[in-house]
Amino acid sequence: MPASHEIRRTFAIISHPDAGKTTLTEKLLYFGGAIRMAGQVKARGEKRRAKSDWMKIEQERGISVTSSVMTFEHKDLIFNLLDTPGHEDFSEDTYRTLTAVDSAIMVIDASKGIEAQTLKLFEVCRLRDIPIITLVNKCDREAKDPFELLDEIQETLALDVAPLVLPIGSGSTFHGCFNVTNGEYYTGAHKGEAFDRIVETSGIDDPQLDELVDGQLLEECREMVELASVGYSEFDLDSYREGHLSPVIFGSALKDFGPTALLDLIAEIAPAPRPSPATTRTVNPDEKKVSGFVFKVQANMDSHHRDRVAFMRICSGDFKRGMKLRQIRTGKDVMVHSPIMFFAQDREIADEAGPGDVIGIPNHGTIRVGDTFTEGEQLQFTGLPAFAPEVLRRVRLPDGTKVKQLRRALEDLAEEGLTQVFKPNIGSNWIIGLVGILQLDVLKSRAKAEYGVDIDFEPITYNMAVWVKCDDPVKMKAFMSANVNNIVHDREGSPVFLAKSQWEIDFTKERHPAITFMKTRELIQAEA
Ligand code: G4P
Repeated sequence: MPASHEIRRTFAIISHPDAGKTTLTEKLLYFGGAIRMAGQVKARGEKRRAKSDWMKIEQERGISVTSSVMTFEHKDLIFNLLDTPGHEDFSEDTYRTLTAVDSAIMVIDASKGIEAQTLKLFEVCRLRDIPIITLVNKCDREAKDPFELLDEIQETLALDVAPLVLPIGSGSTFHGCFNVTNGEYYTGAHKGEAFDRIVETSGIDDPQLDELVDGQLLEECREMVELASVGYSEFDLDSYREGHLSPVIFGSALKDFGPTALLDLIAEIAPAPRPSPATTRTVNPDEKKVSGFVFKVQANMDSHHRDRVAFMRICSGDFKRGMKLRQIRTGKDVMVHSPIMFFAQDREIADEAGPGDVIGIPNHGTIRVGDTFTEGEQLQFTGLPAFAPEVLRRVRLPDGTKVKQLRRALEDLAEEGLTQVFKPNIGSNWIIGLVGILQLDVLKSRAKAEYGVDIDFEPITYNMAVWVKCDDPVKMKAFMSANVNNIVHDREGSPVFLAKSQWEIDFTKERHPAITFMKTRELIQAEA
């Protein structure tokens, strides 16, 4: 019997908005057996607990929906799909979710190629060497030439590509897709219809295809398959696992071309949970003792309770409900008596979970993003980044009696990673920092809906925020007093330097060469 971590595949989908992430998610859940009907998500199995209003809350929240987890079993494996928000702006939460996966699917719109957000998210994956499988989606629409797309991925992302499934036609001429590795031709009952049959062929020259594909198009496809085999890399497992090569599937999530092939690929080639770096050592997933880290906290998941749920990725050991785990930051032992597992639509109490799984731990604000839990060993997982905000605003509170609610809202929402909160040295109004401008609306509407407090924002003279540190306390003190107006502190009490421009940062750097300026700060610093 395989070890428990070997049967788990924890992955995320990255894409630019509108490329088809939601459609693909739904189809993966459908073909993975987690939901009965795509487009009309149904609860799985009668024994599931009463359906929570989880999905409803998420739908109401629209763009403010932060990531969630969907677990399903398929082909004797456990798939954990971690959802990342797909809107144009993104929060740190998106990035942090990627610290909790072992691989990713990158969805690209065949008519658009690589777009801005695909690139940003890809870069985060690259930082962590996360292996990526690519789906070129919407081939049933007018699309760019397949070679143009492959070259674009290869050049823009500096990534080798290995095309495994190529499209036969596009838009009105879309017939289906051809698997160059095993000769399978995926097609619908009629041209343009959804995928519903596989024709086994001996290769692209198989005469069966002459019956099925229009002559001129087939000619072109034969040429394309031949050129692809010489023009691009062959699939290489090691290269993929190291993050240097991406297998590429052309398809159409809407018309079911791709989802099953992706599930098969995730099962066959995507890595099982990988070792996790920590302060004192690297933790292997097959270790007996349970350990994990919290990559996300979400407040107000249930409108009836003021609870928060901390999402913990298990890094090692077999977790059992009721276990006592040590929260390293506080040194306290926490009894995890009602851990939540997340399914396509439901959440239920988890009796057990293994490495790669994500469990939700309900709490009243005692668990933070970045927290490590172990069975007692004194170690902390590293690598969860905090990003320098790109939008800074002062928070204004028209109703002065609501200070408490405001503090609560800002603390909770900062905990979720929606915003960063800074306390200025001078003056008393909070300053918030966001990674994207859209988050301002989200913050305002959630503060109103969930905490009953109206807030406004005022621009401030600063546009950039960077963390500062220095090993020499005397030099640090001199720097702080020379720049007292520019210094704020984040929630952890770390000093942050506010600047009007990159020029100002560079200028200050020159005057204080002992100070390190950082655009990201690891929530947990390795004791290097
Ligand atoms: P996102 O989560 O990445 O933002 O994308 P989403 O799945 O919501 O898809 C965006 C739009 O693209 C949707 O259309 C969806 O139906 C369509 N789409 C997704 N995959 C395919 C595909 O393979 N082929 C084609 N032709 N379209 C695809 P919409 O009109 O915005 O929404 P809806 O009215 O269909 O719900």
